[in-house]
Amino acid sequence: MRQLIAGNWKMHGRLADAAGFAAAVKNAPAWADLLICPPATLIDRFAAALAGSPVSLGGQDCHALPQGAHTGDISAAMLAEAGASHVILGHSERRVDHGENNAIVRAKAEAAIAAGLIPIICVGETEAEREAGEAEHVVRSQLLHSLPPGFAGVVAYEPVWAIGSGRTPTEDDVAAMHTAIRAALVAQLGAAGGNVRILYGGSVKPGNAGALLALPEVGGALVGGASLSATDFLAIASAAPRG
Ligand code: 13P
Repeated sequence: MRQLIAGNWKMHGRLADAAGFAAAVKNAPAWADLLICPPATLIDRFAAALAGSPVSLGGQDCHALPQGAHTGDISAAMLAEAGASHVILGHSERRVDHGENNAIVRAKAEAAIAAGLIPIICVGETEAEREAGEAEHVVRSQLLHSLPPGFAGVVAYEPVWAIGSGRTPTEDDVAAMHTAIRAALVAQLGAAGGNVRILYGGSVKPGNAGALLALPEVGGALVGGASLSATDFLAIASAAPRG
């Protein structure tokens, strides 16, 4: 399966950044699927700038309900209408900053699927949980409670302590966790669990992407800081194994 290289811009990016980035990636030769998740305000602009390009767009969150009195929130259908095909859900920054638990993430995933979006559900342990030997247990529990039945989206393994820190788990630890996630997905979803792409996220850079993307059960990357540079994003994409 082709890998998926996804950029999560978080709360970065203004109109001029979107225009420059879109121009740089629009016609880039890629042997991986490319996805950019800018702030919601830029999706529509990106969609226009990327018309005819295979690069896809995603949101960074959506509400669990289709509409209503929820000031500041955005629905899955709104993201889809703006040009998104994917939405990141349950990122650790949302789980921490906005108190999102597994049940909320699951409800959001159901809303995303109902609106025709592909959810990218984030899981990952804190440093304390890893040090306590709890990492796989924590991630399995997040999968069990965050993924709706029949889930056919994407999972992103993002160890919380690796995000924005410049630190990554060892290659052995990434391989072990992705293998454990695959086993959990198959146990939970049956054969369909074998088709879910499992992205690695957390301090992915051009310099470490090749090694990380070559590991067993790594189906791509969810890139934060390095995705703000089109040069770095494309360098990471070009490190994906050609399958
Ligand atoms: P960094 O690549 O900046 O560590 O962020 C990872 C991330 O949180 C992507 O969702």
